[in-house]
Amino acid sequence: MKEIKIGLIGYKFMGKAHSFAYKNVSLFFDLPIKPVMKVICGRTEKAVIQAKEKFGWLEYETDWRKVVEREDIDMIDIATPPNTHKEIAIEAAKNGKIVFCEKPLTTNLKDAYEMLEIVEKYKVKHAICFNYRKLPAIGLAKKLIDEGKIGKIYHMRAVYLQDWIVDPDFPLVWRLQKSIAGSGAHGDLNAHLIDMARYLIGEFDEVIGMSETFIKERPVLKEKEELETGLVYTEKGEEKGIVDVDDATIFLVKFKNGAIGSFEATRFALGRKNYQFFEINGSKGSIIFNLERLNELKFYSLEDPAYSQGFRTIIATDASHPYAGNWWPAGHIIGYGESFVNMVADILNSIAKDENPVPNFYDGVKCQEVLESVEISIKEKRWVKVK
Ligand SMILES: NC(=O)c1ccc[n+]([C@@H]2O[C@H](COP(=O)([O-])OP(=O)(O)OC[C@H]3O[C@@H](n4cnc5c(N)ncnc54)[C@H](O)[C@@H]3O)[C@@H](O)[C@H]2O)c1
Repeated sequence: MKEIKIGLIGYKFMGKAHSFAYKNVSLFFDLPIKPVMKVICGRTEKAVIQAKEKFGWLEYETDWRKVVEREDIDMIDIATPPNTHKEIAIEAAKNGKIVFCEKPLTTNLKDAYEMLEIVEKYKVKHAICFNYRKLPAIGLAKKLIDEGKIGKIYHMRAVYLQDWIVDPDFPLVWRLQKSIAGSGAHGDLNAHLIDMARYLIGEFDEVIGMSETFIKERPVLKEKEELETGLVYTEKGEEKGIVDVDDATIFLVKFKNGAIGSFEATRFALGRKNYQFFEINGSKGSIIFNLERLNELKFYSLEDPAYSQGFRTIIATDASHPYAGNWWPAGHIIGYGESFVNMVADILNSIAKDENPVPNFYDGVKCQEVLESVEISIKEKRWVKVK
C-alpha cells in the first residue's frame, strides 16, 4: 500500500490530537494510503523525545527547517502557534510538501493571502484543521440544510465560551500575546464559529463587532518555552506584562444569502469549559448543536404534524450519519479526538484521489477575512464589508 510520511511540527495540545489521529485512522477507516508517523519536531529536545516515545513517532527533530527539507517526508503538519504557521508552510511548500496547518491560518490577512499564493504557486496540496466540520452531528446538520429541511435560513446565533483565564493571576501564555496568537478569543474561538457558519450557511457579507480585554496585565512566565502550552502552565514569575489581545469579542453578521447572525467568543464565561453552541433557524425548521454534547443534533421540523412538533434529539451515531459508520455500532458515542481522525481520513482520501482536501488554505483565508473585518469594525466603530 502507498505510504505517506508525515513530519509533525509541535508536540503539545494539537501535536497530541494529530498524533492520535494518525495512530487511529487506519484502525477505523479503510484507506488507500497509509500514514507513517515519521518525525515529530519541537524545540526542547527532552520534551520532544518524550512526545516521540509516548505518541509513537519513529524519529524526532528540534529544528523544523531540517524536517521540511527532508526528502523522505511527504506531508508537513503544522501544530504550532499561529505566528509560526506562515514561515513553516511556505518553506514546506517550496520543498514540495503537502501542508496541513492548524487554525487560524496565521495571525493576519496579508500573511494568509501570501500562504495561499505560495501553496498554489508550488502546486502542493493543502489543508486546514477546522476539525469540527468533521463531526457526524455537523455532517448531519449540513445534510439537513442542503436537502432543504431547514428551508430558507434566517438566523445563526453562535457562541464559543470558555473560562480558563478568569483568574487575573493566570499568566501571560502565548494565547494572550498578539505577536504570537494574532488575537485572543476572536482568532482562537470565533475562527471555529466562522468556519462553521461558512460551511453551513455561506459567505459573510458585512460585520460589526465589539471586544474587551478585562484583565489588562498578567504575570509573565518564568521559563516560557519549557512551561507554556498556551492553555496551562506550571510556574509564573513576579513581573507583569501587558495583555494585548481580546478576552471577549462579539459581532453581528449579515450573510450574503440574506440571513443574519450573532457570534460571541469569550474566555470569561465561568462554568463554560468548551461550550461551542449554535442555533440555526429557517423557514421550515431549526437545528441546535452543542460541542459538549457532540454526538447530538437537535432538529425541529415544521413538516412534523402539529401535535408532535418539538425539538427532537438525534444521536448522530447511525451508519447513515457522516463518518459514523466508520466508528462503533449505533449509540456507541464518539469524542473530541475523533474529529481529528475523521479530518485526517478525509485528507488521506483526497490525496489518494489526487484532489485538494477540504477545508484548505482557501477556507483559512476566507475565515481570516472575516476575523480581520471584525477587527476593523471594532477599531472604526462601523459596519465593515467582508472582502
Ligand atoms: N483545531 C482545534 O480545535 C485547535 C485546538 C487547539 C489549538 N489549535 C491551534 O493549534 C495550534 C497550536 O496550538 P496548541 O494548543 O497545540 O499549542 P501548544 O502551546 O499546546 O503547543 C504548541 C507547540 O508548538 C511548539 N512550538 C512553538 N513555537 C515553535 C517553533 N518556533 N518551532 C517549533 N515548535 C514550536 C511548542 O513547543 C509546542 O510543542 C494553534 O494555531 C492553535 O490555534 C487548534
